[in-house]
Amino acid sequence: MNRTILITGASSGIGKATAKLFQTKGWNVIATMRTPEKEAELTRLDNILITRLDVTDSSSIEASVTEGIEKFGRIDVLLNNAGYGAYGPLEAFPMENIRRQFNTNVIGLLETTKAILPHFRANKAGTIVNISSIGGQMTFPLGTLYHGTKFAVEGLSEALHYELEPFGVKVKIVEPGMIRTDFGGRSFDFVNDETLEEYLRG
Ligand SMILES: NC(=O)c1ccc[n+]([C@@H]2O[C@H](COP(=O)([O-])OP(=O)(O)OC[C@H]3O[C@@H](n4cnc5c(N)ncnc54)[C@H](OP(=O)(O)O)[C@@H]3O)[C@@H](O)[C@H]2O)c1
Repeated sequence: MNRTILITGASSGIGKATAKLFQTKGWNVIATMRTPEKEAELTRLDNILITRLDVTDSSSIEASVTEGIEKFGRIDVLLNNAGYGAYGPLEAFPMENIRRQFNTNVIGLLETTKAILPHFRANKAGTIVNISSIGGQMTFPLGTLYHGTKFAVEGLSEALHYELEPFGVKVKIVEPGMIRTDFGGRSFDFVNDETLEEYLRG
């Protein structure tokens, strides 16, 4: 039986490249994304299920995991890839942006993992791959929020590794450096000019 991977944030960048790589290697791919109706490339490939999954929307997480298992029989690997970077001085960010950054990169990753764990435990097998960043090991100015999330991904992954090892479930971390994706264009939330000017005026 072919193995199956579920990927979050498969609409672009690392997520989409991983979906294509696994598909060419004969895997079944559950390519999840916020707006599947916009996807035109992955839809043309065999053995790919495209589902709507927004990591900040619990029902979409549950529905994608259920649909994936129904379609392919089992899931072997979860790639928690979805994420974005909020950059700017902490004081200049509204709480809404701060919550959104942690809800996406940390809570969303935890909720997706939690949704798939009963399946992995029942199978006594499964691998969770969390996309962290070099920014989960070191920090740069104005990156309080983004680095905060990626340091969290590092810590929670390491602790979860101990928790899941007895059940045959593995947890891995990937720490990309600078990868040429559209992250800086589509997934960068720099604090807006007006708020920044107000902040700089003191
Ligand atoms: N590129 C780099 O240099 C680099 C370095 C270190 C770490 N990383 C990490 O690599 C991962 C992928 O980034 P990338 O470089 O491939 O950039 P990207 O092409 O912009 O991909 C980010 C993906 O996350 C998705 N996403 C954002 N919010 C989401 C949500 N609430 N629910 C579901 N999906 C959501 C985006 O979906 P939409 O299309 O809907 O926006 C997009 O598919 C991120 O976790 C990032 O932090 C990237």
